[in-house]
Amino acid sequence: MKAASKSDVHADLGLQPGQSLALLQELHILTREGRINQDSRRKLKQVYHLYQFIEKLLLEVPAGEGHPTLADHGAGKSYLGFILYDLFFRARGEGHIYGIETRAELVEKSRALAARLGFDRMSFLHLSAAEAADAAQLPAEVDVVTALHACDTATDDAIAFGLRKNARFMVLVPCCQAEVAGWLREQKAMALARTPLSELWRHPLHTRELGSQVTNVLRCLYLEAMGYQVTVTELVGWEHSMKNELILARRTGQRKRTAAERLRAILREFGIEEMEARRFPGLS
Ligand SMILES: C[S@@+](CC[C@H](N)C(=O)[O-])C[C@H]1O[C@@H](n2cnc3c(N)ncnc32)[C@H](O)[C@@H]1O
Repeated sequence: MKAASKSDVHADLGLQPGQSLALLQELHILTREGRINQDSRRKLKQVYHLYQFIEKLLLEVPAGEGHPTLADHGAGKSYLGFILYDLFFRARGEGHIYGIETRAELVEKSRALAARLGFDRMSFLHLSAAEAADAAQLPAEVDVVTALHACDTATDDAIAFGLRKNARFMVLVPCCQAEVAGWLREQKAMALARTPLSELWRHPLHTRELGSQVTNVLRCLYLEAMGYQVTVTELVGWEHSMKNELILARRTGQRKRTAAERLRAILREFGIEEMEARRFPGLS
């Protein structure tokens, strides 16, 4: 069978001119012959959709002095980071992407791939999202923080990182969340005696679902209380995943006192006030 030409593949996938086919082959999205299967096509469209969303934010970051900087928490195979670099950072000629990942073998693979492709302003750090805030390998300020399906509380750690690094933007697509559900479970007996609203989390399945919902609501209030404007939307095209809530936080510097009050009131209502010290430090 004849191999597809470069321009055929670009047109077929709706790729941007200059997008590296070698990268897509390395990421196993394209075969060596430049072909693509349905699954990969879907995956590429999804990452590309997210790319377009993040590109707009990157364009708002003033250029120069090594900007923009972006830290991706729970990077995994770094599809997002590589595509961002290929389509944005490469042509920009400056800026840096940091991939933060706890699985050493994924960090090694991403380092090797970046070296092969000459993507020299990408660093892959074998760190947890929590460790990254204090790590010497990262700059004092980071423009954009992303966390795409970073497991459980890694999203909270990414938020703490973003606050520490004075991030202009945080783009968060939370994953499974067990922490709040655990707290709700512990307090369930007391809550059942106290309020009929506890019916919302009496059954274990509902405890998990409500825990997940409450987690994201608390995260949004926390971000608003710490000086960010928050938009919650759906990650379009992510139909294959149950977790497609996209939280975008934009730094305004104006801390909302009412958000802090609401956050505390919700913690009180659910009997989980102890969470404040651990997850929501610095509230006024
Ligand atoms: C579901 S994968 C998502 C990978 C990638 N962001 C994506 O969307 O394709 C979650 C990744 O987060 C990593 N991870 C889990 N907990 C982490 C933590 N606390 N800090 C950094 N990475 C973490 C896992 O090893 C895994 O690679």
